[in-house]
Amino acid sequence: MSVFRRDPAEVIAELESLRAADAPTHGGRVLSYVYDSGEHALDELAGEAARLVQPVNGLDPTTFTSVAAMESAVVGFARRVFHGEAGGAGAGDGDGADADVVVGSVTSGGTESCILAVKTARDAWRAAREGTPRIPRLVAPVTVHAAFHKAAELLGLALDLVPVDPATGAPRVDDLEERLGDDVALVVVSAPSYPFATLDPVAEVAAICAARHIALHVDACIGGFALAFWPGELPAWDFAVPGVTSLSADLHKYGYAPKGVSVLLTRGRDRQRRQYFATTAWPGYPVVNPTLAGSRPAGPLAASWAIVQALGEPGFVELTGRAARATAALRSLVDGIEGLQVVGDPTGPLLAVATDDEVAPDRRVDPHHWADAARTAGWHLQLQPGLVQSDGTRLPHTTHLTITPVTESVLPELSAALVAAADAVRGAPPIDGGELLAGLAAQLPGGADALAAASVRQAQGAAAGLDSDSAASLLVAFGLLGGAGATGALPDRLAPVLALVEALPGPLTERLLVELLARVVEPRPAGSD
Ligand SMILES: Cc1ncc(COP(=O)(O)O)c(C=O)c1O
Repeated sequence: MSVFRRDPAEVIAELESLRAADAPTHGGRVLSYVYDSGEHALDELAGEAARLVQPVNGLDPTTFTSVAAMESAVVGFARRVFHGEAGGAGAGDGDGADADVVVGSVTSGGTESCILAVKTARDAWRAAREGTPRIPRLVAPVTVHAAFHKAAELLGLALDLVPVDPATGAPRVDDLEERLGDDVALVVVSAPSYPFATLDPVAEVAAICAARHIALHVDACIGGFALAFWPGELPAWDFAVPGVTSLSADLHKYGYAPKGVSVLLTRGRDRQRRQYFATTAWPGYPVVNPTLAGSRPAGPLAASWAIVQALGEPGFVELTGRAARATAALRSLVDGIEGLQVVGDPTGPLLAVATDDEVAPDRRVDPHHWADAARTAGWHLQLQPGLVQSDGTRLPHTTHLTITPVTESVLPELSAALVAAADAVRGAPPIDGGELLAGLAAQLPGGADALAAASVRQAQGAAAGLDSDSAASLLVAFGLLGGAGATGALPDRLAPVLALVEALPGPLTERLLVELLARVVEPRPAGSD
């Protein structure tokens, strides 16, 4: 008897129709989340490689030896392009030659690489201070990726975020240096940062860390595999810099692999062994994992292995050149649009665009209105909220662009759309989040008091926080959720949503976003589809 209840072809047809509703992953219309090389044959190769290893379990590279071979080759490639061969420039802490060997692992993505870098540093810090009850600190510019917020929360570190220059998004070395002390287990800098594409001053920070024997992680998750092949000279930012102890770079970004693959490189075998979890203290097979997952798919690894083999360094140079040319073109385009400006001095294939406050208010372009206008023309830019830093200064709200090799092939259409979008919204003031919120609060059953009470409840922490029904009714009142918890597509305009994110207290926004995301995947009651 057949085990199939539905014809597989029909199942695939259903998936195809679900996929048709997705934002387009190819063709350069989505300028975040996806990294399109523009080379169809490369995607085909990746797909074929992933399929070949579909049944393999990456948990045990001694049983599935293809996993060991591919992981070693991918780590070897990353070590070479990030100047970690022959130990790079050394840990800078005077340990023996072995301490300089750069080794690594393939992980499931940037967040996992970041979490593991923090675990490794925490455990090294603890080992050097046995019996110390103190909580270790993680110091980083406020622009560090939120994956480090997650890592600190999961691993019990205090996160010490250092304000950056609000005009440029760049951290100041002196400000970071002031925060260093014996309780710092790890400093993290970015190459480049996601919000403003700043290449943090890696060499300067490495020097102050090495002098104090503090570990330094370079988060090159997004830009690493682009910066390594970037045209022209860049300041040294990888293992060429003495004192860099680990580095993360994602193959599922500018390595053009399908999602689920990143590398974490660590200087020093002994340091890196702290990344592992090992136990024989149970009656099953010995568990020895360098990563958070147990059983691991081999597909993303195989796909990235195949891409690396096929492209080699010359292929990466060619693809990076396309992204770099497109980035330069868009940067000068934006600089030429009255009312907008590129923030700071971005390095790599990312841009953050803010309002140009130098021009008269009626000539300014709000970047969120601009993104919404571009979206109606089919171009998806990413809205980033403003942020008040711990020193009271405010980072502007911006619109983010991730530029990929395919962008070069759509530059004329994209440029025209960006200019037209700016023309359409020039002079429209940014949404006043406070005003919007007051209006929405007045319509709540309990009025503004109900919102204030919700904020207080949430600020008291998770235990006292909002229950899911109260959170959902706020979302319904804000128009972000249909009645009775039904989810819908995102609203047409995202600027008002971002204005709310900026105006609501952080803990309440976070709780509401949790509710929204959880409701999106909650199965509907039977018969409601
Ligand atoms: C600098 C940086 N670090 C870490 C991450 C997290 O990567 P992932 O989304 O693969 O977990 C990102 C994602 O964009 C990033 O830009």
